[in-house]
Amino acid sequence: MLYDYPEYYETAFSFRNIEEESRFLTKCINRFSKIDVKNVFEIACGNAPHAGLLQEMGYSYHGLDINRNMLDYAAYLWKDLPNKVNLHEASMVDFKYPIKQDFAYVMLGSLYLNDFDEIVSHFNSMSNLLNSGGLYFLDWCIQFGDPLAHNNNNRFVIEKDGIEVESEFNIKLLDQEQQMYEEVWTIKINDRGRRKQFNMVERNKAILPDQFLRFIKERDDFEFIGWWKDWNLDNPIEDENNVTRPIALIRKR
Ligand SMILES: C[S@@+](CC[C@H](N)C(=O)[O-])C[C@H]1O[C@@H](n2cnc3c(N)ncnc32)[C@H](O)[C@@H]1O
Repeated sequence: MLYDYPEYYETAFSFRNIEEESRFLTKCINRFSKIDVKNVFEIACGNAPHAGLLQEMGYSYHGLDINRNMLDYAAYLWKDLPNKVNLHEASMVDFKYPIKQDFAYVMLGSLYLNDFDEIVSHFNSMSNLLNSGGLYFLDWCIQFGDPLAHNNNNRFVIEKDGIEVESEFNIKLLDQEQQMYEEVWTIKINDRGRRKQFNMVERNKAILPDQFLRFIKERDDFEFIGWWKDWNLDNPIEDENNVTRPIALIRKR
């Protein structure tokens, strides 16, 4: 598992602009939250890349992940922050957290839910977690267009601090009716001459835009706020396919 080697994970995703992402989260909060936000909660937090900046911005950071190594790495990374970063080991499918939250987010499509029951169970957990008026921000979790289109341009190489990571993604349709996909992620590491290879296989149920709208409408605890492309609140998604990293926002009633 690449997630057992958080440093390599961090290198593989070091192309991201974490500062811009953090600022965008606050923009969403300022525009759409109905409550003052003190506690923020990340689903599938991994190495908790935004924790430092979010704390600097005045929030108390909480993260949930299923992988102990990722959480230990996050704790090590942020050990010198003035306030404690709260890390919780659990599955997003069904969890309870003792502190109510004002804002929640999930990045990079890290919604690992395999069927409709798991989707319902996850949103029930989120509903219990969030205070009324709080937002749930979903990055790349709704599937606009055909996931198989990502099989083009699916290889990239990145180098940081002497570690080179070559990633290749391949997506396969497993079950058309259930919209189940298998994503095979091959990662080749060259860590200053030491070589490793990981083959990660993740199964995911694609959540299509109209299914998501129906799902939220049928619940009485969340309202749909909107979805956008390019991480820009001036660019709502209208009738489009193949949007990269679409952002969706819902709010607890
Ligand atoms: C792509 S990483 C995202 C990490 C981080 N949020 C970021 O923005 O870089 C996905 C994370 O999801 C976690 N994960 C996978 N299945 C999970 C589950 N069922 N419940 C909670 N976390 C899970 C993995 O351990 C991994 O740390």
